[in-house]
Amino acid sequence: MSSLITNHAPKGLEGVVATNSSICYIDGDRGVLAYRGIDIHELAERSNFEETCYLLWFGRLPKSTELENLQQRLAEERHLDPAIIEFLRNVPKQALPMDVLRTAVSALAFYDPDGKKNDHESNVNKAIRLTSQIAMIVAAYDRVRKGKDVVAPDRTLSHSANFLLQLNDSKPSATAERALDVALILHADHELNASTFAARVTAATLSDMHSAITSAMGALKGPLHGGANEAVFRILATIERDQIDPVEYVRNMLAQKKKVPGFGHRVYHTEDPRATHLRAMSRDLGKSCGQPQWFEMSDKIEHFVKAEKKLNANVDFYSASTYHTLGIDDDLFTPVFAVSRISGWAAHVIEQLDDNRLIRPRAEYLGPKYPSRYVQIEQR
Ligand SMILES: CC(C)(COP(=O)(O)OP(=O)(O)OC[C@H]1O[C@@H](n2cnc3c(N)ncnc32)[C@H](O)[C@@H]1OP(=O)(O)O)[C@@H](O)C(=O)NCCC(=O)NCCS
Repeated sequence: MSSLITNHAPKGLEGVVATNSSICYIDGDRGVLAYRGIDIHELAERSNFEETCYLLWFGRLPKSTELENLQQRLAEERHLDPAIIEFLRNVPKQALPMDVLRTAVSALAFYDPDGKKNDHESNVNKAIRLTSQIAMIVAAYDRVRKGKDVVAPDRTLSHSANFLLQLNDSKPSATAERALDVALILHADHELNASTFAARVTAATLSDMHSAITSAMGALKGPLHGGANEAVFRILATIERDQIDPVEYVRNMLAQKKKVPGFGHRVYHTEDPRATHLRAMSRDLGKSCGQPQWFEMSDKIEHFVKAEKKLNANVDFYSASTYHTLGIDDDLFTPVFAVSRISGWAAHVIEQLDDNRLIRPRAEYLGPKYPSRYVQIEQR
C-alpha cells in the first residue's frame, strides 16, 4: 500500500486535490468563495470578523450568547508576555515586520498556558489566543520600531477597532473599523492555499499549533502569496513619486516579462470575489480620506492588465490601496493578512488533527540513473 504511486504530479500541484475539508468552498470558474457554505459576499455584507472566526472554528454561525462569549474570550486574550515585548524591542533595527511576527509567533509557544497539549479543546484555546496575540504583535512592533510607546488594549472594542487603536493610539472611525473588519473577513480563509497547506503538513506530523502557524507564516511571506500586497503598493508609490503613467509603468513590466503583483490566480479563472469588495472599499475610502489617486492608478492598471493579459485582479491588488488609505505602512500589509488568516490556518490545523494522517507525498525522480557508482575523492 505504502509503495503505491498513483500519478505524475503536475508542476506546482496544479489541480491536485490533496485533502478533504469542510471549511472552505471555492468554485474558480464561477468566482465563488464560501466559508462553511456561506457565500463570502453575504459574510462581507452582514458578518463581522469575530463571527467569521466562530464559523471557521466551530463549523456554524453562533447564537448571540455564543458570539458574545467568543468576543469576550478574544478580548481577554489581549495581553502579551513581557518577554515578547522585550523581544520586539531587541530585534535588529530594520527587521521586517513579517519576519518579526513569524519569529514572535514561534516564541509565543513558550508562554502558552495550554503548553504542549495538542487536543481539540486546547487547540481551540490556542486559536483564540493566537488571533488576539498576532494582532497585538503587529501593532506593538510597529510602535516599538518607531520609538513609540506600546498602546494598551481596550477590551471593550472589536478585534478590528482594537487593532487600529493599538497601531495608531487613537480610536478609529466607524468607517475605518468596518473597512478593516470586512478586509479581515475576506482574508480569513482560502482553502488549500500555500500557507494553509504548509500549516496542515506541519500539523499532520503531530507537531503543535504554534509550529504549524510558524510554517504558514513563512509561506505567506513570499511575493507569490501574501507578500503580493506589499509589492503592489511599492509599484503604486513609485508611480506616484516619479509621476509615471501607470499604464506605461506596467506595460514596461510586462515587456520585461515581469509578473504584475496583485494579478492572476491559480484557482480563479474569473473575478476573485474578494477583489469585488476590496475594489469598492479602495474607491470609497480613497474618496472619503481625500486620497483618490491610489484607486485611480489601480483602476487604470487593472483595465490595462485585463485587456493586455486577460488577467484579473486578485485579493492583494486592491487591499494595497485600501490598507494604505487606512494609514497602515506598506511593510505591515502582509502581517495584516496574517492578522486575519490566523483564523483559517487554525481552523485547518484543528480539522487536520481531528482526523489526522501524516502528509507525505512522493517525488518523481529525475536525477542520475540508479545505480550510479560512488567514486573515490582522488579519482573524481
Ligand atoms: C498567483 C500566481 C502565483 C499563480 O501562479 P500560477 O498558477 O503558477 O500561474 P503561472 O505563473 O504559471 O502563470 C500562467 C501564465 O500567466 C502569466 N501570469 C500569471 N500571473 C501574472 C501576473 N501577475 N503578471 C503577468 N503575467 C502573469 C504567466 O506569466 C504565465 O504566462 P505564460 O504561460 O505565457 O508563461 C501568479 O498569477 C502570480 O505570480 N501573480 C502575481 C503574484 C500575486 O499577486 N500573488 C497573490 C496571489 S493571491
